[in-house]
Amino acid sequence: MTQNDRSRAAAFQLLAGLTIDEKIALLSGASSWQTVGYPDRGIRSMTLSDGPHGIGAGAAGELIGTPNAPTAICFPTASTLSCSWDRVLARTQGAALAAEARRAGVDVVLGPGMNLKRTPLGGRNFEYFSEDPYLSGRLAAAVIAGTESGGVGTCVKHFALNNQEHDRFTISAEVDERALREIYLRGFEIAVTEGRPATVMAAYNAVNGVPCAENSRLLTGILRDEWGFDGVVVSDWGAVSDQVASLKAGIDLEMPTSQGMGAAAIRDALKSGDVGEEDIDRAAARIIELSSRFARQEHLEPAASSTAELVELARIVAQQSIVLLRNERNTLPLARTGTVALIGEFAEKPRFQGGGSSNVNVASFATARTEIGRFLAPHQVRYARGYDGEQVDQALLHEAVAVASEADVALLFVGLTEMTESEGFDRETLSLPESQLALIEQVRAVSPRTVVILHKGSVVDVTPWHDTVDAILDLNLGGQQVAAAALDIVFGDVNPSGRTSETVPLRLEDTPAYLDYPGAQRQVHYRESIWVGYRYYDRRKLPVAYPFGHGLSYTEFDYLDPRARVHDDETVTVEVTVRNVGVRDGSEVVQVYVRDDLSTVPRPDRELRGFSKIWIPAGETVTTSIDLDRRDFAFWDEYRDRWVIESGTFTLEIGHSSRDIRAHVGVELTGDTGTVEIIDRRSPVRHFLSDPEFAVTVAQFVAATPLLGDGSDALSPLQQQIVTEVINGMPLETLRLLSRGAFSDEDIDKVIARLSR
Ligand code: BGC
Repeated sequence: MTQNDRSRAAAFQLLAGLTIDEKIALLSGASSWQTVGYPDRGIRSMTLSDGPHGIGAGAAGELIGTPNAPTAICFPTASTLSCSWDRVLARTQGAALAAEARRAGVDVVLGPGMNLKRTPLGGRNFEYFSEDPYLSGRLAAAVIAGTESGGVGTCVKHFALNNQEHDRFTISAEVDERALREIYLRGFEIAVTEGRPATVMAAYNAVNGVPCAENSRLLTGILRDEWGFDGVVVSDWGAVSDQVASLKAGIDLEMPTSQGMGAAAIRDALKSGDVGEEDIDRAAARIIELSSRFARQEHLEPAASSTAELVELARIVAQQSIVLLRNERNTLPLARTGTVALIGEFAEKPRFQGGGSSNVNVASFATARTEIGRFLAPHQVRYARGYDGEQVDQALLHEAVAVASEADVALLFVGLTEMTESEGFDRETLSLPESQLALIEQVRAVSPRTVVILHKGSVVDVTPWHDTVDAILDLNLGGQQVAAAALDIVFGDVNPSGRTSETVPLRLEDTPAYLDYPGAQRQVHYRESIWVGYRYYDRRKLPVAYPFGHGLSYTEFDYLDPRARVHDDETVTVEVTVRNVGVRDGSEVVQVYVRDDLSTVPRPDRELRGFSKIWIPAGETVTTSIDLDRRDFAFWDEYRDRWVIESGTFTLEIGHSSRDIRAHVGVELTGDTGTVEIIDRRSPVRHFLSDPEFAVTVAQFVAATPLLGDGSDALSPLQQQIVTEVINGMPLETLRLLSRGAFSDEDIDKVIARLSR
């Protein structure tokens, strides 16, 4: 008996002591954040709380945004953490969340959130990792492992395709199977199989017409049967409207409580035979097992880390995640000798988190105005607020221009406001507010050097001002210590090493989902299919402001000696040596992309399949080794309904970003099937020509058969070509009918059998 079997058996034993009504009651929350418990029978109630980057309202049974929610540490959001490209760090942040959860009495943290960024307008993009499923999945798995190793459960959300906030309760994501598997489910699959989260949250929206909370294909067929998920499926808050349908589809726990309404419906369904007691038992046992694993147990030691250590960790994660997008003439790092104009309200009140259920009530946060004192004397710094809200304020603008014109460098703190980035609604534009656009334009006109410091959880349009500023530092939404981390980088205490986890497009009109977002009449069609993020920009050869994976350092790296080894056609090890050729120590993120050199189905030019972040002292070299497995070379075959690898060579591109490939190496793999083409009697003749025997028969037939005219005149080369093309495009069956016996039924069956092998 495995440990899993034992704990499931123990749960069933506890279950046996409950009446049917008590079992049914377990399947719905006791309140907004608590589950039902029967402590006298050894079944503890659990507290669930947001999540994902700090402990939120649930900890005290508060409603979202309630000012008297308990305070907690706000770590960098997933959109920020993902720019670290650092699994160890993600795991550490996960463990820190567990420490915070235990301090607050929370048993399950509602995170990580890991929906794909289909459009940069998504209101909750700040809560999600990336436009790439591999990066999202690997980092989410690390967060999950970290949190659960700290004795606290996680809840991967929102399963699945909750890629927009607009109409999130009612919209149906209409998606083809390839995009579903390769793009939208892939990250969840990695997180579930690698991270083994305790719970998964079913989303509000529908997928291909079926609400996620009633979607047995997603919740049972794929999540449990294919991926082996063994934990509790919980509904998003209020996503269940028919608890019987949800229970049958695979939801174990409805949250929050439906005040007995769901329970009454389940009792009726039990009477009518619509659900069986075993359906109730199965879900209830999973909930009991979860509670036995995670509900606060007195014997658990309090978390080892102090609050001060965790606050410091929030800063380290931000340092590792901030992306230096641009740095003309080595504007950064700044010397500590000159004068600096700190401009923009965010220098005083940084935006470090987004709105909605993820909101954390912090006890304190760092500000640039205070932090700059670590680097400069008071007489070297002046501050101007620059803007107040979104509308241009002439007086504030004049003051900012005056301050900037007297300083050696202007640090411009700009970004998106709280009102534009939140759960519940999407953005309408990629643009910065008018007030800030005016500020950037006027400040850079008078300032000898301008550094734009961006606070935002999703992509903004940099085009209007990009070329006119000297440096751009992207802080994302970096948690409560982000201002300290930013100045550590600005003044060179820390060498930046973040890389974008999302392409920065030149215009909204260039983005992949532009034509099919946000949908209408309750449907949004994912017509761009698998062409999401860089997969789309690369295939279209579109210029972008910053490609996926981009980020500058204060040093430079050379890539040497790339090599790859294939082990038994199963795994591939890629190795490359990286030399730090600058004068500063720094971290490089080595990225490995895979391309199928020749594929039957359309496949992206490159897909991220491995990465590693390595610290390299100045002048030294480090060799990194990245393992890829067979799945990393596969595509979802819609015809066979499974992952398939096509035989042939694959190019492994190794680089500094998706558009800065420094080395490549080819590997040869044996595929899963002779051909991925559909091979049957309706297949065109050309699909059979790779069969030597058959090719000869076809050639003989063509030579002997007058297909044009009466055969008395020799065919011109053009006619010859037309005949060949026509025959090659003909279904095999048609060729047989025309062949006057040259091909028998048996010949055809044989060649089909040979090629299908
Ligand atoms: C959000 C979830 C969140 C839950 C509880 C829902 O509205 O979509 O992400 O965990 O509320 O706050």
